[in-house]
Amino acid sequence: MSASRIFVVTGSNKGIGLATVKALCEAVGSESIVYLTARSVERGTKAVEDLAKSGLKPRFHPLDVDDASSIETFATFLKKEHGGLDVLVNNAAIAYKGNATEPFGVQAEHTIRVNYFGLQAVCKALFPLLRPHSRVVNVSSCVGHLTKVPGEELRKKLSDPTLTEDELDGIMHDFVKAAAENKHGELGWQNSAYGASKVGVSALTRIQQRMLDQDPRDDIVVNHCHPGYVDTDMTSHRGVLTVEQGAVCPTYLALLPPNVSSPRGEYLWYDKQVVDWVDASLPPPGY
Ligand SMILES: NC(=O)c1ccc[n+]([C@@H]2O[C@H](COP(=O)([O-])OP(=O)(O)OC[C@H]3O[C@@H](n4cnc5c(N)ncnc54)[C@H](OP(=O)(O)O)[C@@H]3O)[C@@H](O)[C@H]2O)c1
Repeated sequence: MSASRIFVVTGSNKGIGLATVKALCEAVGSESIVYLTARSVERGTKAVEDLAKSGLKPRFHPLDVDDASSIETFATFLKKEHGGLDVLVNNAAIAYKGNATEPFGVQAEHTIRVNYFGLQAVCKALFPLLRPHSRVVNVSSCVGHLTKVPGEELRKKLSDPTLTEDELDGIMHDFVKAAAENKHGELGWQNSAYGASKVGVSALTRIQQRMLDQDPRDDIVVNHCHPGYVDTDMTSHRGVLTVEQGAVCPTYLALLPPNVSSPRGEYLWYDKQVVDWVDASLPPPGY
Protein backbone atom coordinates (compact mmCIF):
# COMPACT_ATOMS: atom_id res chain seq x y z
CA MET A 1 0.00 0.00 0.00
CA SER A 2 1.52 3.33 -1.01
CA ALA A 3 2.12 5.94 1.70
CA SER A 4 -0.10 8.45 -0.01
CA ARG A 5 -3.66 7.23 -0.07
CA ILE A 6 -6.90 8.81 -1.27
CA PHE A 7 -9.94 8.52 1.02
CA VAL A 8 -13.51 9.47 0.06
CA VAL A 9 -16.48 9.73 2.42
CA THR A 10 -19.90 10.43 0.92
CA GLY A 11 -22.45 12.65 2.67
CA SER A 12 -19.82 13.88 5.10
CA ASN A 13 -20.79 17.48 5.81
CA LYS A 14 -22.39 16.36 9.08
CA GLY A 15 -23.24 13.43 11.33
CA ILE A 16 -21.40 10.11 11.20
CA GLY A 17 -19.84 10.97 7.83
CA LEU A 18 -18.24 14.14 9.19
CA ALA A 19 -16.98 12.29 12.27
CA THR A 20 -15.51 9.60 9.98
CA VAL A 21 -13.66 12.25 7.95
CA LYS A 22 -12.34 13.68 11.21
CA ALA A 23 -11.21 10.28 12.51
CA LEU A 24 -9.55 9.43 9.19
CA CYS A 25 -7.71 12.78 9.07
CA GLU A 26 -6.45 12.11 12.59
CA ALA A 27 -5.40 8.55 11.75
CA VAL A 28 -3.61 8.97 8.43
CA GLY A 29 -0.42 10.86 7.67
CA SER A 30 -0.41 14.26 6.00
CA GLU A 31 0.70 12.62 2.75
CA SER A 32 -2.75 11.01 2.44
CA ILE A 33 -5.78 13.00 1.29
CA VAL A 34 -9.26 12.68 2.77
CA TYR A 35 -12.12 13.99 0.65
CA LEU A 36 -15.09 15.36 2.55
CA THR A 37 -17.89 15.27 -0.02
CA ALA A 38 -21.37 16.72 0.15
CA ARG A 39 -24.27 17.49 -2.15
CA SER A 40 -24.22 21.12 -0.96
CA VAL A 41 -21.09 23.12 -1.74
CA GLU A 42 -22.00 25.56 1.01
CA ARG A 43 -22.48 22.91 3.72
CA GLY A 44 -19.43 20.95 2.58
CA THR A 45 -17.14 23.99 2.47
CA LYS A 46 -18.34 25.09 5.89
CA ALA A 47 -17.57 21.62 7.33
CA VAL A 48 -14.04 21.72 5.88
CA GLU A 49 -13.52 25.21 7.32
CA ASP A 50 -14.71 24.02 10.75
CA LEU A 51 -12.29 21.07 10.70
CA ALA A 52 -9.46 23.39 9.66
CA LYS A 53 -9.94 25.21 12.99
CA SER A 54 -8.81 21.99 14.72
CA GLY A 55 -5.83 21.70 12.39
CA LEU A 56 -7.39 19.01 10.19
CA LYS A 57 -7.11 19.38 6.44
CA PRO A 58 -9.60 17.33 4.47
CA ARG A 59 -10.29 18.51 0.93
CA PHE A 60 -13.78 19.23 -0.34
CA HIS A 61 -15.41 18.00 -3.52
CA PRO A 62 -19.12 18.18 -4.37
CA LEU A 63 -20.85 14.81 -4.70
CA ASP A 64 -24.58 14.25 -4.90
CA VAL A 65 -25.14 10.49 -4.90
CA ASP A 66 -28.57 11.09 -6.44
CA ASP A 67 -27.14 12.89 -9.48
CA ALA A 68 -25.45 10.88 -12.23
CA SER A 69 -23.54 13.86 -13.63
CA SER A 70 -22.22 14.83 -10.18
CA ILE A 71 -20.94 11.26 -9.70
CA GLU A 72 -19.35 11.24 -13.15
CA THR A 73 -17.68 14.61 -12.57
CA PHE A 74 -16.20 13.37 -9.30
CA ALA A 75 -14.96 10.12 -10.85
CA THR A 76 -13.31 12.05 -13.69
CA PHE A 77 -11.72 14.42 -11.17
CA LEU A 78 -10.30 11.58 -9.04
CA LYS A 79 -8.88 9.85 -12.09
CA LYS A 80 -7.24 13.00 -13.45
CA GLU A 81 -5.99 14.34 -10.11
CA HIS A 82 -4.88 11.12 -8.40
CA GLY A 83 -5.17 8.28 -10.91
CA GLY A 84 -7.54 6.44 -8.56
CA LEU A 85 -8.55 6.03 -4.92
CA ASP A 86 -7.92 3.70 -1.99
CA VAL A 87 -10.83 4.04 0.40
CA LEU A 88 -14.52 4.70 -0.23
CA VAL A 89 -16.96 5.10 2.67
CA ASN A 90 -20.51 5.05 1.33
CA ASN A 91 -22.19 6.94 4.16
CA ALA A 92 -24.71 9.29 2.47
CA ALA A 93 -28.34 8.37 3.07
CA ILE A 94 -31.77 9.76 3.81
CA ALA A 95 -34.56 8.63 6.13
CA TYR A 96 -38.09 9.97 6.28
CA LYS A 97 -39.29 10.83 9.76
CA GLY A 98 -42.11 8.83 11.33
CA ASN A 99 -44.49 11.78 10.96
CA ALA A 100 -43.68 12.44 7.28
CA THR A 101 -46.82 13.19 5.26
CA GLU A 102 -45.59 11.89 1.89
CA PRO A 103 -47.40 8.70 0.80
CA PHE A 104 -45.43 5.51 1.51
CA GLY A 105 -44.91 4.89 -2.22
CA VAL A 106 -43.25 8.30 -2.63
CA GLN A 107 -41.04 7.71 0.39
CA ALA A 108 -40.11 4.27 -0.94
CA GLU A 109 -39.15 5.51 -4.42
CA HIS A 110 -37.04 8.37 -3.02
CA THR A 111 -35.37 6.33 -0.28
CA ILE A 112 -34.45 3.39 -2.52
CA ARG A 113 -33.27 5.78 -5.23
CA VAL A 114 -30.83 7.59 -2.91
CA ASN A 115 -29.80 4.92 -0.41
CA TYR A 116 -29.59 1.90 -2.71
CA PHE A 117 -29.32 3.05 -6.33
CA GLY A 118 -27.32 6.18 -5.41
CA LEU A 119 -24.78 4.15 -3.44
CA GLN A 120 -24.63 1.63 -6.26
CA ALA A 121 -24.08 4.38 -8.86
CA VAL A 122 -21.15 5.74 -6.83
CA CYS A 123 -19.68 2.23 -6.67
CA LYS A 124 -20.13 1.67 -10.42
CA ALA A 125 -18.29 4.92 -11.15
CA LEU A 126 -15.53 4.59 -8.56
CA PHE A 127 -14.85 0.83 -8.38
CA PRO A 128 -12.89 0.89 -11.67
CA LEU A 129 -10.59 3.45 -10.00
CA LEU A 130 -9.94 1.44 -6.83
CA ARG A 131 -6.30 0.50 -6.42
CA PRO A 132 -5.08 -2.86 -5.04
CA HIS A 133 -5.70 -3.13 -1.25
CA SER A 134 -8.60 -0.67 -1.42
CA ARG A 135 -11.22 -0.71 1.30
CA VAL A 136 -14.91 0.04 0.77
CA VAL A 137 -17.36 0.57 3.63
CA ASN A 138 -21.10 0.49 2.96
CA VAL A 139 -22.88 2.06 5.92
CA SER A 140 -25.97 -0.09 6.45
CA SER A 141 -28.02 -0.22 9.65
CA CYS A 142 -29.41 -2.64 12.23
CA VAL A 143 -32.59 -2.59 10.12
CA GLY A 144 -30.47 -3.70 7.14
CA HIS A 145 -29.88 -7.09 8.74
CA LEU A 146 -31.55 -9.99 6.90
CA THR A 147 -33.56 -10.99 9.99
CA LYS A 148 -35.53 -7.74 9.60
CA VAL A 149 -37.10 -9.13 6.43
CA PRO A 150 -40.28 -10.98 7.42
CA GLY A 151 -40.77 -13.02 4.21
CA GLU A 152 -38.95 -16.35 4.13
CA GLU A 153 -38.91 -16.56 0.33
CA LEU A 154 -37.56 -13.03 0.07
CA ARG A 155 -34.88 -13.79 2.67
CA LYS A 156 -33.88 -16.84 0.61
CA LYS A 157 -33.56 -14.74 -2.55
CA LEU A 158 -31.60 -11.96 -0.84
CA SER A 159 -29.15 -14.36 0.79
CA ASP A 160 -28.70 -16.66 -2.21
CA PRO A 161 -24.92 -16.79 -2.78
CA THR A 162 -25.53 -16.75 -6.53
CA LEU A 163 -27.75 -13.61 -6.46
CA THR A 164 -26.60 -11.17 -9.14
CA GLU A 165 -26.59 -7.39 -8.99
CA ASP A 166 -29.21 -7.25 -11.78
CA GLU A 167 -31.46 -9.63 -9.84
CA LEU A 168 -31.05 -7.54 -6.69
CA ASP A 169 -31.88 -4.38 -8.66
CA GLY A 170 -35.05 -6.15 -9.80
CA ILE A 171 -35.96 -7.01 -6.20
CA MET A 172 -35.51 -3.36 -5.19
CA HIS A 173 -37.55 -2.10 -8.16
CA ASP A 174 -40.29 -4.60 -7.26
CA PHE A 175 -40.34 -3.23 -3.70
CA VAL A 176 -40.81 0.33 -5.01
CA LYS A 177 -43.58 -0.76 -7.40
CA ALA A 178 -45.41 -2.72 -4.69
CA ALA A 179 -44.96 0.11 -2.15
CA ALA A 180 -46.83 2.47 -4.50
CA GLU A 181 -49.89 0.26 -3.94
CA ASN A 182 -49.09 -0.59 -0.33
CA LYS A 183 -48.55 -4.20 -1.39
CA HIS A 184 -44.89 -4.54 -0.37
CA GLY A 185 -45.89 -6.73 2.60
CA GLU A 186 -47.18 -9.33 0.11
CA LEU A 187 -43.64 -9.55 -1.31
CA GLY A 188 -42.26 -10.25 2.15
CA TRP A 189 -40.95 -6.77 2.96
CA GLN A 190 -40.98 -4.96 6.27
CA ASN A 191 -43.03 -1.76 6.46
CA SER A 192 -40.02 0.55 6.21
CA ALA A 193 -38.59 2.09 3.07
CA TYR A 194 -35.40 2.95 4.93
CA GLY A 195 -35.11 -0.62 6.23
CA ALA A 196 -35.63 -2.03 2.72
CA SER A 197 -32.97 0.32 1.32
CA LYS A 198 -30.43 -0.85 3.91
CA VAL A 199 -31.27 -4.53 3.36
CA GLY A 200 -30.53 -3.78 -0.31
CA VAL A 201 -27.22 -2.13 0.59
CA SER A 202 -26.22 -5.12 2.69
CA ALA A 203 -27.21 -7.67 0.04
CA LEU A 204 -25.29 -5.60 -2.52
CA THR A 205 -22.16 -5.62 -0.36
CA ARG A 206 -22.03 -9.40 -0.42
CA ILE A 207 -22.34 -9.44 -4.22
CA GLN A 208 -19.67 -6.74 -4.55
CA GLN A 209 -17.18 -8.72 -2.46
CA ARG A 210 -17.83 -11.80 -4.57
CA MET A 211 -17.15 -9.78 -7.73
CA LEU A 212 -14.06 -8.13 -6.28
CA ASP A 213 -12.70 -11.53 -5.24
CA GLN A 214 -12.59 -12.36 -8.98
CA ASP A 215 -10.98 -9.02 -9.85
CA PRO A 216 -7.38 -9.00 -11.10
CA ARG A 217 -6.62 -6.17 -8.65
CA ASP A 218 -5.32 -7.65 -5.42
CA ASP A 219 -7.06 -7.54 -2.04
CA ILE A 220 -10.00 -5.17 -2.48
CA VAL A 221 -12.32 -5.55 0.50
CA VAL A 222 -15.88 -4.31 0.96
CA ASN A 223 -17.81 -4.61 4.22
CA HIS A 224 -21.10 -3.29 5.57
CA CYS A 225 -21.86 -2.11 9.08
CA HIS A 226 -24.38 -0.86 11.58
CA PRO A 227 -22.80 2.30 13.07
CA GLY A 228 -24.98 2.18 16.19
CA TYR A 229 -27.91 4.32 17.30
CA VAL A 230 -26.28 7.72 16.99
CA ASP A 231 -27.19 11.26 18.01
CA THR A 232 -27.59 12.89 14.56
CA ASP A 233 -30.19 14.80 12.56
CA MET A 234 -31.32 11.47 11.08
CA THR A 235 -32.40 10.17 14.50
CA SER A 236 -33.75 13.61 15.53
CA HIS A 237 -30.92 13.46 18.09
CA ARG A 238 -32.52 10.55 19.94
CA GLY A 239 -29.54 8.26 19.29
CA VAL A 240 -27.49 7.40 22.35
CA LEU A 241 -24.02 7.21 20.80
CA THR A 242 -21.96 10.26 19.90
CA VAL A 243 -21.01 10.78 16.25
CA GLU A 244 -17.43 9.91 17.24
CA GLN A 245 -18.67 6.55 18.57
CA GLY A 246 -20.76 6.08 15.41
CA ALA A 247 -17.65 6.64 13.30
CA VAL A 248 -15.63 3.93 15.08
CA CYS A 249 -16.72 0.97 12.95
CA PRO A 250 -16.71 2.76 9.54
CA THR A 251 -13.22 4.11 10.36
CA TYR A 252 -11.98 0.69 11.46
CA LEU A 253 -13.22 -0.87 8.22
CA ALA A 254 -11.73 1.97 6.15
CA LEU A 255 -8.32 1.34 7.70
CA LEU A 256 -8.21 -2.47 7.59
CA PRO A 257 -4.58 -3.50 6.99
CA PRO A 258 -3.44 -5.11 3.74
CA ASN A 259 -4.35 -8.74 3.06
CA VAL A 260 -6.84 -9.20 5.91
CA SER A 261 -8.60 -12.54 5.74
CA SER A 262 -11.55 -11.21 7.77
CA PRO A 263 -13.69 -9.18 7.65
CA ARG A 264 -14.29 -9.47 3.89
CA GLY A 265 -17.83 -8.95 2.65
CA GLU A 266 -19.04 -9.12 6.26
CA TYR A 267 -21.67 -7.29 8.31
CA LEU A 268 -20.23 -5.61 11.40
CA TRP A 269 -21.92 -4.32 14.52
CA TYR A 270 -20.96 -0.83 15.74
CA ASP A 271 -18.51 -2.34 18.26
CA LYS A 272 -16.61 -4.01 15.37
CA GLN A 273 -17.86 -7.54 16.00
CA VAL A 274 -18.66 -9.52 12.89
CA VAL A 275 -22.29 -10.66 12.84
CA ASP A 276 -23.45 -13.28 10.37
CA TRP A 277 -25.90 -11.43 8.08
CA VAL A 278 -27.84 -14.59 7.20
CA ASP A 279 -27.89 -17.01 10.11
CA ALA A 280 -27.20 -15.07 13.30
CA SER A 281 -29.63 -12.95 15.22
CA LEU A 282 -28.53 -9.42 16.10
CA PRO A 283 -26.56 -8.85 19.29
CA PRO A 284 -28.31 -6.86 22.02
CA PRO A 285 -27.87 -3.14 21.35
CA GLY A 286 -25.45 -2.78 24.25
CA TYR A 287 -26.33 0.85 24.83
N1 LIG B 1 -27.75 7.87 13.14
C1 LIG B 1 -28.02 6.58 13.34
O1 LIG B 1 -28.43 6.17 14.45
C2 LIG B 1 -27.81 5.57 12.24
C3 LIG B 1 -28.13 4.24 12.50
C4 LIG B 1 -27.93 3.29 11.50
C5 LIG B 1 -27.41 3.69 10.28
N2 LIG B 1 -27.11 5.00 10.05
C6 LIG B 1 -26.54 5.35 8.76
O2 LIG B 1 -25.36 6.13 8.97
C7 LIG B 1 -25.17 7.02 7.84
C8 LIG B 1 -25.02 8.44 8.34
O3 LIG B 1 -26.21 8.79 9.02
P1 LIG B 1 -26.32 10.06 9.99
O4 LIG B 1 -27.07 9.60 11.16
O5 LIG B 1 -25.01 10.70 10.13
O6 LIG B 1 -27.32 10.97 9.12
P2 LIG B 1 -27.37 12.54 8.86
O7 LIG B 1 -26.83 13.29 10.01
O8 LIG B 1 -28.75 12.80 8.38
O9 LIG B 1 -26.34 12.72 7.65
C9 LIG B 1 -26.63 12.17 6.40
C10 LIG B 1 -25.64 12.74 5.40
O10 LIG B 1 -25.96 12.23 4.10
C11 LIG B 1 -26.04 13.33 3.21
N3 LIG B 1 -26.86 13.08 2.04
C12 LIG B 1 -28.19 12.85 1.96
N4 LIG B 1 -28.55 12.73 0.66
C13 LIG B 1 -27.43 12.89 -0.07
C14 LIG B 1 -27.14 12.88 -1.45
N5 LIG B 1 -28.11 12.71 -2.38
N6 LIG B 1 -25.87 13.05 -1.86
C15 LIG B 1 -24.88 13.22 -0.96
N7 LIG B 1 -25.08 13.28 0.36
C16 LIG B 1 -26.34 13.10 0.79
C17 LIG B 1 -26.57 14.47 4.06
O11 LIG B 1 -26.34 15.71 3.41
P3 LIG B 1 -27.29 17.02 3.67
O12 LIG B 1 -26.74 17.70 4.88
O13 LIG B 1 -27.10 17.79 2.40
O14 LIG B 1 -28.68 16.50 3.87
C18 LIG B 1 -25.72 14.27 5.30
O15 LIG B 1 -24.42 14.79 5.11
C19 LIG B 1 -26.37 6.81 6.94
O16 LIG B 1 -26.05 5.87 5.94
C20 LIG B 1 -27.41 6.23 7.88
O17 LIG B 1 -28.39 5.49 7.20
C21 LIG B 1 -27.31 5.95 10.99
